[in-house]
Amino acid sequence: MDPVANPYRPGAGRRPPILAGREPLLAGFEVVQRRAEERGEGERGWVLNGLRGVGKTVLLTEMLDRASRAGWIAAKAEAGTEPLPLTLSRSLVRAMRTATGRHPERRLKRLLGVFKAFSLKVEPSGAVSLGVDVDPIAGIADTGRFADDLASLFEVLGETARALGTGVLVLVDELQEAAASELAAINVAVHNLGQADPPLPLAFVGAGLPSLPAQLAEATSYAERLYDYRPVGLLDEAASRDALVLPSRQLDVDWDDEALSLALETARGYPYFLQAVGKHVWDNARRSPIDPDDVRLGLIEAQREVDDGLYRSRWERATPAQRDLMRALADLAGDTTASISEIAAALGKTKTSHISVARNELIKKGLVYAPDRGLLAFTVPGMHDFIARQP
Ligand SMILES: Nc1ncnc2c1ncn2[C@@H]1O[C@H](COP(=O)(O)OP(=O)(O)O)[C@@H](O)[C@H]1O
Ligand SMILES: [Mg+2]
Repeated sequence: MDPVANPYRPGAGRRPPILAGREPLLAGFEVVQRRAEERGEGERGWVLNGLRGVGKTVLLTEMLDRASRAGWIAAKAEAGTEPLPLTLSRSLVRAMRTATGRHPERRLKRLLGVFKAFSLKVEPSGAVSLGVDVDPIAGIADTGRFADDLASLFEVLGETARALGTGVLVLVDELQEAAASELAAINVAVHNLGQADPPLPLAFVGAGLPSLPAQLAEATSYAERLYDYRPVGLLDEAASRDALVLPSRQLDVDWDDEALSLALETARGYPYFLQAVGKHVWDNARRSPIDPDDVRLGLIEAQREVDDGLYRSRWERATPAQRDLMRALADLAGDTTASISEIAAALGKTKTSHISVARNELIKKGLVYAPDRGLLAFTVPGMHDFIARQP
């Protein structure tokens, strides 16, 4: 089939042609939006947690789009590469600049002034430019203590949005990469929003690996009740079918039943894999309907793409000792979890402490995580399969 028309989009953060199976979550977000707009009231923050490649980033992008289209002050940041205060401040600048084009300047004056003081604390060079001439307002969000300043800034953002009949959306991707003190600051700021009566209409959504809820809870004890935790998992059979079939149908291309079953069986509901399979099957297909032969050829290339794009770099980053641990985990757990003591035993160690260096390094590299105390699992689905294929 014509590769130029190929509708599928494998790759990190690349928006799928059909965002399959996420209707319940997006319906929930619609409620958050309407409560903010119609009642000036905010909900608890959300935490989207799930393995790599399940579609967290594209969900955040979808929310950002919806909120921006509705005229919200909406910002998306990514933790990890730079300190969170800086990343957040920069993404908020963009959101604020859009807002100034949409709302009367005098009604944004206080917010802009407070934000300017906040951002000058974070980035004293004053590199941020709001695109309008405002004087910083001292004494509200510029103590230099990030937790306090963020709480004050969120408060002014929420108050401004309420007065304008709109909402604020703050999204942070890869939140598991943030330092514990940064997570604590977010918890404080989100907690503070909820204490207004009614809670201010600022929606916070953080996304990250399955370890994120535990990290937030470790940062401040009340985090467990602070957020609405929304695990983002593999797609069920019907959603997986939609992800493959609907994009091609829009281009008058069908899949025959056997071809579709074969593709679904291989992708096992993993969104990244579904896009890779769709893409390569499409490129290898000769005509509509797509038949099992097309799929068999496409699967070989899809496998290669996922191996190279996802698994191999992870495997190659690991030292021999870390690889031994991963092999043991793959044998024992597959796509589920194994206990540290089982793994240690499988490696012939008498104590779990003998593998703790390798374990900690692998967690730091983001290859495995601890779903619960004493347990271990891979951060990407299908890693065990890849490892089984390695010499
Ligand atoms: N609901 C979905 N339906 C179909 N494909 C999806 C869906 N969610 C994500 N994808 C695809 O999966 C891949 C990974 O998405 P991404 O958002 O980067 O995952 P994560 O942020 O969880 O690692 C992308 O190619 C994307 O197009
Ligand atoms: Mg992502």
